[in-house]
Amino acid sequence: SPFLDTSKKLRFYVSVKPPCILSTKTKKKNPLFTACLVPICSLYGAAVTTVEGVGSIKTRIHPVQERLAKCHGTQCGFCSPGMVMSIYTLLRNHPEPTPEQITEALGGNLCRCTGYRPIVESGKTFCVESAVCQMKGSGKCCMDQEERSFANKQEKMCTKLYNEDEFQPLDPTQEPIFPPELIRMAEDPNKRRLMFQGERTTWIIPVTLNDLLELKNNFPKAPLVMGNTTVGPSVKFGNEFHPVFISPLGLPELYFVDSTDDGVTVGAGYSLAQLNDALQFIVSEQPKEKTKTYRALLKHLRTLAGAQIRNMATLGGHVVSRPNYSDLNPILAAGNATINLISKGKRSSFRDSILELSPAVILNQIYIGYIYIWHFVSGLRMAQRQENAFAIVSAGMSVQFEEGTDKIKDLQMFYGNVGPTVVSASQACQQLVGRQWDDQMLSDACRLVLDEIYIPPAAKGGMVEYRRTLIISLLFKFYLRVRRGLTKMDPQKFPDIPEKFMSALEDFPIETPQGIQMFQCVDPSQPPQDPVGHPIMHQSAIKHATGEAVFVDDMPPIAQELFLAVVTSTRAHAKIISIDTSEALALPGVADVITAEDVPGDNNHHGEVFYAQNEVICVGQIVCTVAADTYAHAKEAAKKVKIAYEDLEPRIITIEQALEHNSFLSVEKKIEQGNVEQAFKYVDQIIEGEVHVEGQEHFYMETQTILAIPQEEDKEMVLHLGTQFPTHVQEFVAAALNVPRSRIACHMKRTGGAFGGKVTKPALLGAVCAVAANKTGRPIRFVLERGNDMLITAGRHPLLGKYKIGFMNNGVIKAADVEYYINGGCTPDESELVIEFIVLKSENAYNIPNFRCRGRACKTNLPSNTAFRGFGFPQATVVVEAYITAVASQCNLPPEQVKEINMYKRTSKTAYDQTFNPELLRRCWKECLEKSSFSARKQAAEEFNKNNYWKKRGLAVVPMKFTIGIPMTYYNQAAALVHIYLDGSVLVIHGGCEMGQGLHTKMIQVASRELNIPESYIHLSETSTVTVPNALFTAGSMGTDINGKAVQNACQILMARLQPVIRKNPRGTWEDWVATAFEESISLSTTGYFKGYQTNMDWEKGKGNAYPYFVYGASCSEVEVDCLTGAHKLLRTDIFMDAAFSINPALDIGQVEGAFIQGMGLYTTEELKYSPEGVLYSRGPNDYKIPTVTEIPKEFHVTLVRSQNPIAIYSSKGLGEAGMFLGSSVLFAIYDAVTAARRERGLAKTFSLSSPATPELIRMTCVDQFTDLVRKEKVPIIIIPHVDSQILGMDLITMKELQGRFTFSN
Ligand SMILES: Cc1cc2nc3c(=O)[nH]c(=O)nc-3n(C[C@H](O)[C@H](O)[C@H](O)COP(=O)(O)OP(=O)(O)OC[C@H]3O[C@@H](n4cnc5c(N)ncnc54)[C@H](O)[C@@H]3O)c2cc1C
Ligand code: FES
Repeated sequence: SPFLDTSKKLRFYVSVKPPCILSTKTKKKNPLFTACLVPICSLYGAAVTTVEGVGSIKTRIHPVQERLAKCHGTQCGFCSPGMVMSIYTLLRNHPEPTPEQITEALGGNLCRCTGYRPIVESGKTFCVESAVCQMKGSGKCCMDQEERSFANKQEKMCTKLYNEDEFQPLDPTQEPIFPPELIRMAEDPNKRRLMFQGERTTWIIPVTLNDLLELKNNFPKAPLVMGNTTVGPSVKFGNEFHPVFISPLGLPELYFVDSTDDGVTVGAGYSLAQLNDALQFIVSEQPKEKTKTYRALLKHLRTLAGAQIRNMATLGGHVVSRPNYSDLNPILAAGNATINLISKGKRSSFRDSILELSPAVILNQIYIGYIYIWHFVSGLRMAQRQENAFAIVSAGMSVQFEEGTDKIKDLQMFYGNVGPTVVSASQACQQLVGRQWDDQMLSDACRLVLDEIYIPPAAKGGMVEYRRTLIISLLFKFYLRVRRGLTKMDPQKFPDIPEKFMSALEDFPIETPQGIQMFQCVDPSQPPQDPVGHPIMHQSAIKHATGEAVFVDDMPPIAQELFLAVVTSTRAHAKIISIDTSEALALPGVADVITAEDVPGDNNHHGEVFYAQNEVICVGQIVCTVAADTYAHAKEAAKKVKIAYEDLEPRIITIEQALEHNSFLSVEKKIEQGNVEQAFKYVDQIIEGEVHVEGQEHFYMETQTILAIPQEEDKEMVLHLGTQFPTHVQEFVAAALNVPRSRIACHMKRTGGAFGGKVTKPALLGAVCAVAANKTGRPIRFVLERGNDMLITAGRHPLLGKYKIGFMNNGVIKAADVEYYINGGCTPDESELVIEFIVLKSENAYNIPNFRCRGRACKTNLPSNTAFRGFGFPQATVVVEAYITAVASQCNLPPEQVKEINMYKRTSKTAYDQTFNPELLRRCWKECLEKSSFSARKQAAEEFNKNNYWKKRGLAVVPMKFTIGIPMTYYNQAAALVHIYLDGSVLVIHGGCEMGQGLHTKMIQVASRELNIPESYIHLSETSTVTVPNALFTAGSMGTDINGKAVQNACQILMARLQPVIRKNPRGTWEDWVATAFEESISLSTTGYFKGYQTNMDWEKGKGNAYPYFVYGASCSEVEVDCLTGAHKLLRTDIFMDAAFSINPALDIGQVEGAFIQGMGLYTTEELKYSPEGVLYSRGPNDYKIPTVTEIPKEFHVTLVRSQNPIAIYSSKGLGEAGMFLGSSVLFAIYDAVTAARRERGLAKTFSLSSPATPELIRMTCVDQFTDLVRKEKVPIIIIPHVDSQILGMDLITMKELQGRFTFSN
């Protein structure tokens, strides 16, 4: 019987030949589904394989799991089961896939840690010709070439991060077959209607079409659940409730393809993936010109959602449920598709873009006709991300000409996402009939279409100006495509489009990324058993890939356990008048409602409030929680809690508002060197500007999860949770419960990504959960849903940078006066520390003799922002790069030249007086420029730009001087505990937390070297306040540095104790020595300790030795921008990172790549959206776009540069965060491309490009005749209230719009 795993880990299910899918001309396939959208009743008769069924450490692991692990395609492991299922399913359908199929298969999966490159690579090992090192299809191996170029160097560079020879072969014959009993069941001629009765709903499965129509007639309002990709999210997130669902499975009348001489009829039950296969087949058999509609559909089917959704969503479901946000409906309308509707006793056909079905009607089939040679059909779309993102505007257009001419006989234009339904520009089209297809017609068409399709200022989705620009930009693309098509048919009669316009025809292709990773080879004289320096696989990688790694929510239920749901404030600043819990308490299963009154100890600990009391200070603040026997009951009851508020003034949302109200969380931090005022008097030029860098959501894959178990005795409480700082949780829980810290035990085994988001927030949530456990006396399971996690825990600080720069005409910067403001939100959290870091680190790589930098954290009524990888550096240094780029522009010099001129050159002092040697900075910079062939490629880009008007290329290189650690010694301390057991096995415990970065793996490497035993002897289980007390957070890139030293210290103490035994028996084994030591009463257990790096900072003087050492790097990126849509494609990135000596190059490269992609997300696709009242709207993957596999660089090269760093363990460097800022090379490459476009259009050279550079920002900055036409009528921005954040296609507004900054300069 079908089963469904309730684990929240990102597992996907492959349903093996479910009987509902009847094949026609297309081959039978095993489809991959998204587990969270599959209703369990719909699995009746299906065989389901989960990741556990693919392979297990208990029996045999599958090659897909093995390769994902060994290619380092897993870090935290939370996404890994999903990745395994995607590749596994692909291999079941295509045992020898192409690299493109691998990329396509992974398109629907998200990973926040790895940056996807190693995941793709693990998949590519299954391709026939090893696609791993096929550079640009040349067949040459990139690695051979590069290794030669390094051969003469002293340090040999390696490129192999894993050994393919170790891989088990794939044997498709070993896979499970479809259970014969299910086939028999499917073929049973006497099947009867099935009914599943739930607590509140009934699920009915009809078995014949008549039965279905009968049911629809009886329950007209019941949704027809096909793929469930629209119904599912509406029920789950949109609070929709249906007492009856009708789900037809396997009705032949809905699952078929019928091909005739005139066209094709497709059953409405066909999934979009099956539709794709059917159309592919037809396109391959029919002449090209007949199948233009089919090819337009195929193009959009490639990017519509991801592979999993395309397997589930049906053609009928799409047509019916997507009146506006649809990729296919505009094309179907333009291609004159006919829709067949049936209801009990009735049948009818329609050709209409706007389908209003009466409830009892079902759509059973769609007919798509062939077209003739003088007829063109195209589909166009633009989305925030190429794949897995709803279109911002989609379009379907068609034109028919009088035979042999370019005279319009019929014209049709349909747009999606510009109104409540697909909108037809029918009047404009009518007026253009009879016109010739020429520039004048285009010009009139643009005007007419804009007149006809009005997007009101308060339209859903916002971005009104941009969407209007897209309407005519897409029309222009269509115009060009048709012109090109006409020319191909008769070049004499129809002149071609200008050569310079050719690249506007096509969208960016989706390609399979590739690249090289280089690192130091291990010294051949190093003992083979010593793992230090080797690319060892993550300690838990195999368990991640099999789904057997245990995360908190995988822990089995505990007796009497309750679930917790939160009730959060809906006001940004208000007095709580009353909280009425009576209705909630009356609901079934509810154990209790917990409020501030139930906190036995501090409810406000160091300014962090656990349960709101008397007033609320942000939307999303926890007011109370509901504990119930199931999460569903807790959530239902939480909705019934009634809170009355009285709004308070002021309500401060933005940095600008905070400045107006003098609202701050910290005093001003300042450093200064030289005499800034004096220097401004003697410079050639002065520029002033502002840069906005918006915030970022951590989007760790495992949301905040806590299991709190009250103990029987002595007010003890045990907590299991995912955190970077168990000590902090212990502190907050102890304070909330008013018990000594010794009674609170926090256990942390692993967490599914953290990125700074689990430093302070788990303490707050831990206290909330512990108070509930204390009050109810029962274990509490508290798992934040994604939307609540995004709302409550906030993220990276938005930043405003204001600068005044004085410089000479040769690009030398003499003086800089920079002010930084960050939006800290409503409580202190770590905002003061973030602003200190910003002020200290913001000079980056540049030596500006007269330099003043000030910063302050603003207090606002937003949820409190917190630590995020890079801790302010990625925001602040964008401001630096922006002003350097602006100086370059003023001096007519290339940015890289001005960067080099102003870069630190010799041993120097930072602006806060710390001495350092920038040699490695210059080496990374130089190698980056050389090895990326920067100059040659820049020239090539300029050439490209000369020849292409609508697409522009841009390159940028950014240098980096980053620091690790904290300017306070005691913050850098660490401890470890090492036990040797009598069988020789070793247990290593330390205070650091494993969140995917591979810390435990590196600690095993350290212990292995120090104890001189194989890694297999060493075990690392968990981090706990019981074993290592008072451990500091695992953050600031220090995990390996400080815990490594502590583990090393413990191992060295033990080895010193064993030395006399070893000396007596030098030929003995480790086991012998351990046994003898025990017999001689030598203790085999010890703690290890690291006092911390000697760092300090005197803010009074603005001087200090703030950081133990510097990490240098440089990155170069090249992009291509589509000026008509604002899309961009990242063509290539080269990163050179000073790793000193890498303890584990695979893990370090993983950190660099992962951080780079996360940084790229920050600077490009990730955009948080709020209401003016401070409500966060972007609360899930629909509205917040982290990079997917299609966004990563087409060519991605990473080199770890070898150097010395004697202060750190084994001369290594901490690389956890450094790559983040290097993602800004993409932002500045976009800036470079946009500058090229603007230059060609005769526009101002300097313009402000804030972060993120979204498609909207890019498009509207590439000013042209289309933007001009739209801007002629100024549309004011009106903000409308939010209805429901989780419903697709909601009303959104960006922070930029809120601040009234969303204007573009010409
Ligand atoms: C993550 C995600 C990403 C997406 N991305 C995109 C995208 O990029 N572009 C895009 O265009 N769309 C996108 N979609 C939307 C997707 O295309 C639709 O959800 C899908 O096509 C609906 O089909 P379904 O079979 O799942 O419908 P269901 O959810 O099963 O049903 C939807 C509704 O249609 C009705 N219905 C279904 N079939 C019939 C029928 N035969 N006759 C009458 N009524 C019927 C049902 O009663 C129900 O009310 C995305 C969806 C998700 C979840
Ligand atoms: S490894 Fe992919 S999300 Fe962590």
